[in-house]
Amino acid sequence: CKVRRYKFHVVAKNISRLCSSKSIVTVNGEFPGPTLYAREDDTVLVRVVNKVNHNITIHWHGIRQLRTGWADGPAYVTQCPILPGHSYVYNFTITGQRGTLLWHAHVNWLRSTVHGAIVILPKRGVPYPFPKPDEELVLVLGEWWKSDTEAIINEALKSGMAPNVSDSHTINGFPGKVSNCSNQEVYNLPVESGKSYLLRIINAALNEELFFKIANHKLTIVEVDATYVKPFEIETIVIAPGQTTNVLLKANQKSGKYLVAASPFMDAPVAVDNLTATATLHYSGLTLSNTPTFLTTPPPKNSTENANNFLNSLRGLNSKTYPVNLPLKIDHSLYFTIGLGLQPCPSCKAANGSRVVAAVNNVTFVMPTTALLQAHYFNIGGVFTTDFPPNPPFFFNFTGSGPKNLNTDSGTKVYRLKFNETVQLVMQDTGILTLENHPVHLHGFNFFVIGSGLGNYNSTIDSKNFNLVDPVERNTVGVPAGGWVAIRFRADNPGVWFMHCHLEIHTTWGLKMAFLVDNGQGPKQSLIPPPKDLPKC
Ligand code: C2O
Repeated sequence: CKVRRYKFHVVAKNISRLCSSKSIVTVNGEFPGPTLYAREDDTVLVRVVNKVNHNITIHWHGIRQLRTGWADGPAYVTQCPILPGHSYVYNFTITGQRGTLLWHAHVNWLRSTVHGAIVILPKRGVPYPFPKPDEELVLVLGEWWKSDTEAIINEALKSGMAPNVSDSHTINGFPGKVSNCSNQEVYNLPVESGKSYLLRIINAALNEELFFKIANHKLTIVEVDATYVKPFEIETIVIAPGQTTNVLLKANQKSGKYLVAASPFMDAPVAVDNLTATATLHYSGLTLSNTPTFLTTPPPKNSTENANNFLNSLRGLNSKTYPVNLPLKIDHSLYFTIGLGLQPCPSCKAANGSRVVAAVNNVTFVMPTTALLQAHYFNIGGVFTTDFPPNPPFFFNFTGSGPKNLNTDSGTKVYRLKFNETVQLVMQDTGILTLENHPVHLHGFNFFVIGSGLGNYNSTIDSKNFNLVDPVERNTVGVPAGGWVAIRFRADNPGVWFMHCHLEIHTTWGLKMAFLVDNGQGPKQSLIPPPKDLPKC
């Protein structure tokens, strides 16, 4: 193993898309940002230098950060932001992980343009558990707004209403031919007939789950969220913000230009950017042009069928080398409701004196002004409380319409776990405002997805159908609209770990909480001391 050093200069850059240009925040002037390459067991040092007028932090989404919570990145959770003109070195070791992940800004809405891929190769000499591809390609899916995203969210918070949706989706930074204004903004995916490719697909969009498919080509799924799965073939995958999916693609056509489509999946009556981002799978030997000859129709945006076909096929690889280490004895059995709600807001006239919020177990999380991890490590009182409720405050038909006049509570509450305790967590969507999919991401851990279903979770019936043999391991999972999902993890990583909906608007509205995991015994089971250059609040 070795040490990999990266320099991330956070700089402004003018970019033009869809016939208009704006200044965006980038890393090293690139959009999407640079790909970070490493091998399992490597230590990674990334010096982030803030050269813009915004506070910044970077999160290494899905990296376990064993005992190195100081390098995790969410602002006011594990660190205070890096102020303009300042820098911070993220220092972490990649332990027991290989595959595709992503990095992104973790403060306000800056991740709309500040994001990129993380590619972790297996240890030297260790093969993939699937046929070695001839080549590898990274595909970052995203969203593009013509206006400044920081202004959009600030405006929405003032009014209490939902923010504007994006103006297009993107594939490696380009929308494809979605309007006359984007005829030249098409990403070309070069392939050679007869060769095989590993596509590392990442959803870096702010607020939308996406379907992804390629005309006339099937995809073989081999990995999600940097964990291997039992390979299976499918036409359409679904990928939520924060999730990654590795697929094998055989360039088994003789020649041609094939449409690549990334389109929204949103099984809810909410506003989405309805446009499909397109790219072209381009066989070699043809003159470059932006018009694919072989087309495909993306699934309708409410096609739960397409989504479930993919999600229900995911199984952990569970081989000798890559076993599923599912906790079988459970110390904490938790039940969290996940959803939107309301709070009074006298100044929010446009929204009739209330504002949209989001909550877990009816608690709308309030961001502290000191980082939780610092407060925990240095015993600073008054920053958070440890009374996060293990169950909803009261029960009702969660997937029906909510009780009248229900306002959410506010608080900076965490749920406390002892080192190595095991957790089973059922997350239940609620329909207080509207039923909606919520891709929930847990920092610091992978978890096993042991079950999911529609309606209200029924512990006696539904727990009988849990997959305790080969559940898929992920870091981000969709709580289905009008349904529930059950996960398990082991609290083997001391620190403070954020959990939130990875639709950024829901995080902003308060759909977030944190787990506090105490140190175990001795230095091997304890959080390392904070680095000297850790930013102060
Ligand atoms: Cu990818 Cu807390 O986020």
